[in-house]
Amino acid sequence: MQESALMETKNRVVEKDPPLKKDDLIVIAGAGGFIAGNLALFFRKKGFTRIRAVDKKPLPEWYLRVPGVESLCLDVSSEDNCRRVCEGAVEVYNLAADMGGMGFIEHFRIECLRSVLINTHMIEAACRAGARRYFFSSSACAYNTLLQQDPKVRALKESDAYPAMAERGYGWEKLISEMFCEEYWHERGMKTFIARFHNVYGPNGTWDGGREKAPAALCRKTIEAIDKKDLRIPIWGDGHQTRSFMYIDDCVKGIDLIAHSDDLIATPINLGSSELVSINELASKIERIAGVKLKRDYDPHAPRGVAGRNSDNTFIKKVLNWEPDTTLDTGLAATYKWIQEQYFARKKGKRVVE
Ligand SMILES: NC(=O)c1ccc[n+]([C@@H]2O[C@H](COP(=O)([O-])OP(=O)(O)OC[C@H]3O[C@@H](n4cnc5c(N)ncnc54)[C@H](O)[C@@H]3O)[C@@H](O)[C@H]2O)c1
Repeated sequence: MQESALMETKNRVVEKDPPLKKDDLIVIAGAGGFIAGNLALFFRKKGFTRIRAVDKKPLPEWYLRVPGVESLCLDVSSEDNCRRVCEGAVEVYNLAADMGGMGFIEHFRIECLRSVLINTHMIEAACRAGARRYFFSSSACAYNTLLQQDPKVRALKESDAYPAMAERGYGWEKLISEMFCEEYWHERGMKTFIARFHNVYGPNGTWDGGREKAPAALCRKTIEAIDKKDLRIPIWGDGHQTRSFMYIDDCVKGIDLIAHSDDLIATPINLGSSELVSINELASKIERIAGVKLKRDYDPHAPRGVAGRNSDNTFIKKVLNWEPDTTLDTGLAATYKWIQEQYFARKKGKRVVE
């Protein structure tokens, strides 16, 4: 590239958008899943009247079907489908990905890598459609794993992704898709936004079946132990691994704030809680909610991920004057209650989404 052209893209002028109208089309991909389903509900409650939600899952399997939202069953790893989905969009939120907890991402790296097709086609389709804003859900798994080998972690700040040594499969897909987002701004001028989510949990998400993450898995195992009167709980690893967990309401609020902040165009930012807990502490919190004490069976051979991971929220506090602040105790109580309802509804033969 000529030096003058390079300067031009580096210094791209940020033009102010007209205000978003309530009937502007918002497209949300991955909306049959946990976070995007909750995001569709969030925008609907804010009064947006034209929301197009899409997921490859059949409609009866979506966690949330939001009344008044156009819901489509389509695979957005195909270019044609992405063009159809993005037609007329003013804002596009891409949260579709083949993903799950450690058990899934350690065993299905190819599926995780193939999600690169989703973002590749969605971002191009959004740009062709003239969308004003494009949001991509990245992950803390994009961070250099060498910085996460001690449970007493130093919280990860945005610059810790490079030099890159991301989580195999899933993390590398996120890094390359982030890069697409950055270049669509620099070369083509579409405003793109990238949030690196740290573990998200809450009602209306995966709680069984192999893709669930630690909070949901431990809630379900606790409920099962009580129900079966076998007061033991299997724990993956030695329980000393540390993580932070963000409640879903904070996540969707954060997405909205990030995607509408021009200070964050093409700039990856952490979206996560900074309340660090070990898996043992997480299990204890759930025991307190359930009013039970369980014997822990540690499995040293189970997938356990990095030793420790936390979100450094210095940057988000500086730019947005906000950070996720729902305490784990509050969020877990709501999550436990919801999973308990699902568990007993399923036991009574009712069809529930796992
Ligand atoms: N949940 C977390 O803790 C967490 C953490 C970091 C990043 N993320 C990212 O946030 C996003 C949403 O995660 P989630 O927890 O809601 O996961 P989820 O599995 O509940 O939702 C993802 C949805 O994408 C859909 N999907 C997958 N491939 C598709 C395709 N080709 N076409 C259409 N739909 C497709 C799935 O069917 C699923 O419903 C993902 O990009 C994920 O990588 C989540």
